[in-house]
Amino acid sequence: MEKIVIEGGHSLKGMVTISGAKNAALPIIASCLLTGGWHRLSHVPRLKDIQTIKLIMSNLGVTFREEEGEVFVNSENVHEYEAPYNLVKTMRASILLLGPLLARLGKAKISLPGGCAIGARPINLHLMALAAMGVEMRLEQGYIHAQVDRLKGANIFFDITTVTGTENIMMAAVTADGQTVLQNAAKEPEVQDLADMLRSMGAQITGDGTDTIVIDGVKDLRPTPQHHVIPDRIEAGTFMIAAAMTNGEITINGCRPEHLAAVIERLQSVGAELEKVGDGLRVRGPGTIKSVDVKTMPFPGFPTDLQAQFMAMMCIASGSSVIKETIFENRFIHVSELKRMGADIKINGPHALVRGKARLSAAPVMATDLRASASLILAGLVAKEGNTEVNRIYHLDRGYEDLEKKFRSLGAGIWREKV
Ligand code: EPU
Repeated sequence: MEKIVIEGGHSLKGMVTISGAKNAALPIIASCLLTGGWHRLSHVPRLKDIQTIKLIMSNLGVTFREEEGEVFVNSENVHEYEAPYNLVKTMRASILLLGPLLARLGKAKISLPGGCAIGARPINLHLMALAAMGVEMRLEQGYIHAQVDRLKGANIFFDITTVTGTENIMMAAVTADGQTVLQNAAKEPEVQDLADMLRSMGAQITGDGTDTIVIDGVKDLRPTPQHHVIPDRIEAGTFMIAAAMTNGEITINGCRPEHLAAVIERLQSVGAELEKVGDGLRVRGPGTIKSVDVKTMPFPGFPTDLQAQFMAMMCIASGSSVIKETIFENRFIHVSELKRMGADIKINGPHALVRGKARLSAAPVMATDLRASASLILAGLVAKEGNTEVNRIYHLDRGYEDLEKKFRSLGAGIWREKV
């Protein structure tokens, strides 16, 4: 086991390059199941979650090869169709294999993902949409057993916008008979990146990036000749917040400002200066951070995956702010740990009232999910009086590539120690 130790108080300065997006790379790798031949992917982040999906897919018969930073995937010999509990329990996104397995083999057996620290996270909408496409499903001993002769196109309305639900059904629909229309579909950039990947394989998809996606089933797909995964907007947002919190100046290379409009707007409201440079953004922190309210929303709204990090910043702002979480019912697990560092936060249902303080103080803390871990590291970067120790950092390794190395290159006092 390892922990991250942070000596706070350094102002971060320099340049950082953003890795490929975890939440785009996961469905893109899953989509390689749709057809055999070598798919060529670049900008795939090196993360635990990526290793997990590769492991599950290797067990299905998929071959992976890495060359000069690119990942080659071949699913010519897919012979298994089961994603077992021991792997799915470590990563809920394994459910993304359901759609492509049904499209390729007409059957799938996938462990039903349980709840997780941030909420119950049901998958009823994935299942409802697959049933509309003709899939028969039963739940037995914790596994979804799904089977279909031919997937058929359907008109599907999602009552709640779901990112992986939209992605799963897009993958199921690309070779289905006829047309599938997804209404109230997720508009996230990761959904658009998957649509780009599928189009590079010969799929016919329009409307991604809007709330209505139309997929016309095609007979054949080919492996992608090349797909470059989009930059991780959550990683970029985490560094943007770090620049503001530490009153530093960070140039964030290789990020897409158009994926970060809501975050840019909130950072400008707290007083940070942002400027587009080259293929990224330069963020300069204000001397004093102003308190502003935030409400998480599906894209293009403020992302739930940056709520915890933004809250860490509000803890040292000059006033009070209300943070409203509207996506997940239990995504305030970082609050009790931030309080251990002296933060003044009160929770009332989906609202957190944060009263800013001049300083946070270093403490040993423990993370219970990926983005909560990032928020505790940000708090540690500005904490005084000793070193902050963030425990259970395996959550962080699931979703941030080389986070502490990148922070160190910007001048942070941060390192890993064995526990
Ligand atoms: N929901 C349902 N039924 C469903 C599906 C979703 O009720 O069948 C509800 C969820 O419980 C939640 C809301 O709909 O309240 C939105 O959930 P969504 O399905 O969009 O979330 P997800 O697809 O499971 C992805 C990301 C999350 C990110 C959310 C929201 C991946 C692999 N995961 O999850 O990322 O927070 O979208 O943007 O893409 C993370 O990276 O730390 C992370 C949690």
